Amino acid sequence: MGGRTAYYDGTVSPAWVHFEKRFAAGGVAGLISPTISVNEARQSPLEYPSLHDNRFIGPLRDAVREIKAAGRGKHGCRYIVQIGDTGGHTHTSLKPQDKDRVSASPFFDAQYGYPNTARAMSLDEIGETIDDFSNAARRVVAAECDGIEITASKGYLIHQFLNPLTNRRTDDYGGSLDKRFKLLEDIVKAVRKAVGADFLFGVRLSAKDFKSSRFARFPLTWPPPPKQVWIGNDLAETTLYAKKLEALGVDYLHIDSGFGFPNPHGSPGGFPFEAVLNTFNAYRFLSRKARLRATLFNIAKLVPMGLGKKFLGRGWRFTPAANLDFAAAIREVVSIPVIANGGFQDRDIIDGALTSNKCDMIAIARPLLANPDLLDQFDKGANRPSNPCSFCSLCCASTAIFPLGCYDQNRFETPEAMTNQILAWCSPNAPFNVKDGKIDKSVQRQELSQ
Ligand SMILES: Cc1cc2nc3c(=O)[nH]c(=O)nc-3n(C[C@H](O)[C@H](O)[C@H](O)COP(=O)(O)O)c2cc1C
Ligand code: SF4
Repeated sequence: MGGRTAYYDGTVSPAWVHFEKRFAAGGVAGLISPTISVNEARQSPLEYPSLHDNRFIGPLRDAVREIKAAGRGKHGCRYIVQIGDTGGHTHTSLKPQDKDRVSASPFFDAQYGYPNTARAMSLDEIGETIDDFSNAARRVVAAECDGIEITASKGYLIHQFLNPLTNRRTDDYGGSLDKRFKLLEDIVKAVRKAVGADFLFGVRLSAKDFKSSRFARFPLTWPPPPKQVWIGNDLAETTLYAKKLEALGVDYLHIDSGFGFPNPHGSPGGFPFEAVLNTFNAYRFLSRKARLRATLFNIAKLVPMGLGKKFLGRGWRFTPAANLDFAAAIREVVSIPVIANGGFQDRDIIDGALTSNKCDMIAIARPLLANPDLLDQFDKGANRPSNPCSFCSLCCASTAIFPLGCYDQNRFETPEAMTNQILAWCSPNAPFNVKDGKIDKSVQRQELSQ
């Protein structure tokens, strides 16, 4: 999980270290970082970390040492860095720029990314992207991390190449499944070469794209493409990708679903209308599309009985362990470990996932943001934390504009308690006095002493 905690140039800051350390101190076995940009221009969202230059190695090494040491395990907490490139889904920028709209092919996406339309990358740009990934990977090793993960999910650049709706190239990087896979394949080969044979290396993959018709491909064609193209990759395709990744020497797969961040399958839960509206309003200056999108959401807010919100939020609902069965389907065709991601908060569901052989590990995000002491609560016998995450997803949709923390006001007795909790994520100097949604002055010492 990431928030706006790095410096504007992408260097990790004390706030970033503090945020990550809180999870490590909470007793998790390992952390996977937020998506760290490999490209200098596409630093997205702003104030997420970057690894596009050697100058980032030193600060990241110091940060990772500190985060790992905060862990409770024999070796502290393991730290894996996830690297990625947002491509045509770039969320934000200080100013509009052409480099934020590169993708496999031209498309219009009403929902994700600020650029009006995406444009196809040239072969030179593809070559530069492969170099970006391998250079960033080399820096991850130099920063003494325990592993590296490439995101081929979340609707980001690699995912845009894998997907038949956003990739309609006719060269070596588009068309058949093998050709759509080629960018990922080239990146995996380059990264493995950069990190060496023994370095832990995983790929985050979306099991099913579930794409609806929010995209227009340019130029438009008649007849329109078949249904299979509109819905994107399904398990039939992604199990083949998984097998190919195993054959290329990838050590583990990290499975979610959907196309774009946030999306109702990758982050199952309620539709965070207010947070999406705030984000769209904040970035409306970047393009005509961004302006129109914000206007549409402002109008939807005025529609009586919340019908506008309901319409825009169709498909958003919480499903526990939402991607576990997809992880299981992928685990059946590979022999490398598979991580299931999304909707894990109850101990019995987590235990069930791990003992059912459907996955080898699970990843948790929002429930740990809501309760950094989640594992301690389990140890004390709770099946569900006393003040659980509501999976409202307000944090996901706020992360590009606000400091990261829990934004569900219903979980807090007062607005001040919610604010203090958010500040506690951002700074070791902020009040650490929120417990179970209430301000409790006695909690401060206890948390700081960890
Ligand atoms: C605020 C926030 C930021 C996130 N940032 C990232 C990110 O940078 N990279 C990534 O792969 N996933 C990111 N995610 C997605 C989570 O890794 C996870 O897939 C999602 O929240 C579903 O898991 P959960 O139900 O345990 O929250 C983020 C999630 C949240 C809530
Ligand atoms: S805002 Fe809070 S309650 Fe809502 S999903 Fe995020 S952590 Fe959970």
